[in-house]
Amino acid sequence: MSERINNIFSSIADVYDFWGHLFSFGVDGIWRKMAAEEAIADIGGHKILDVATGTGSVAIDIYRKAKKAKKLVEIVGVDFNSDMIKIAEDKIKNQKIKNICFKIENAMDIDEPECAYDVVTAGFLLRNVDDIEVFAEELGRILKKNGKFILLEMGRTRNKLLNMFFRIYFFIIRMVGSLIDKKAYDWLTYSILAFDKKRMVNILQEKGFKDLKIKNLPFCIAFLITGIKG
Ligand SMILES: C[S@@+](CC[C@H](N)C(=O)[O-])C[C@H]1O[C@@H](n2cnc3c(N)ncnc32)[C@H](O)[C@@H]1O
Repeated sequence: MSERINNIFSSIADVYDFWGHLFSFGVDGIWRKMAAEEAIADIGGHKILDVATGTGSVAIDIYRKAKKAKKLVEIVGVDFNSDMIKIAEDKIKNQKIKNICFKIENAMDIDEPECAYDVVTAGFLLRNVDDIEVFAEELGRILKKNGKFILLEMGRTRNKLLNMFFRIYFFIIRMVGSLIDKKAYDWLTYSILAFDKKRMVNILQEKGFKDLKIKNLPFCIAFLITGIKG
């Protein structure tokens, strides 16, 4: 699956930010800022890793929030797709941001030392990885003891009416998306409807993480799963 996912993101890298903002009416920006806010809240150290950083939006939001709060942070953003990383690098160059470093790495086998990070974030990764259990193990390996993680994701809500609304809206996204890149937008809508957040939380619990919480975000389709390495 990972080769297929990598190809999907290569083919939409140039338009990823634009269509993401448009399809979500800009709310995706609010979701990422809320994830960034969680990342720097009550931070015990300064090393932050953003996995599946893509075009770097979450990493840049963390940088901005930390700067505003006068917190010193060192941010590394990793992603297995070089086309997405190239856009992230161009963004920080244009915005003259110095303390973010982007690298090409796979979330299934993160090339970072054990217990190296105080905070790990991942925006919209879980629906795209081959095996969420392997990612959960990697998360446990790279986080310091009592380090925290913030996973931003989208999935069905418990509200049947809202789910019906999203099914109709996703149909529209697939129609418009087929003019941009059919495979990518079919995958986006399919993977959101298929994602099981409860299973993710159970896996994290089994792997020994504590203080697990799901926080719903505006529009109810996105949420943060947060927790701490026990
Ligand atoms: C939906 S995008 C999210 C990007 C970014 N976090 C954001 O908020 O916009 C998903 C990203 O996950 C990356 N990805 C998917 N599977 C991955 C894996 N196994 N290892 C590293 N990155 C992966 C893709 O290349 C893509 O950039």
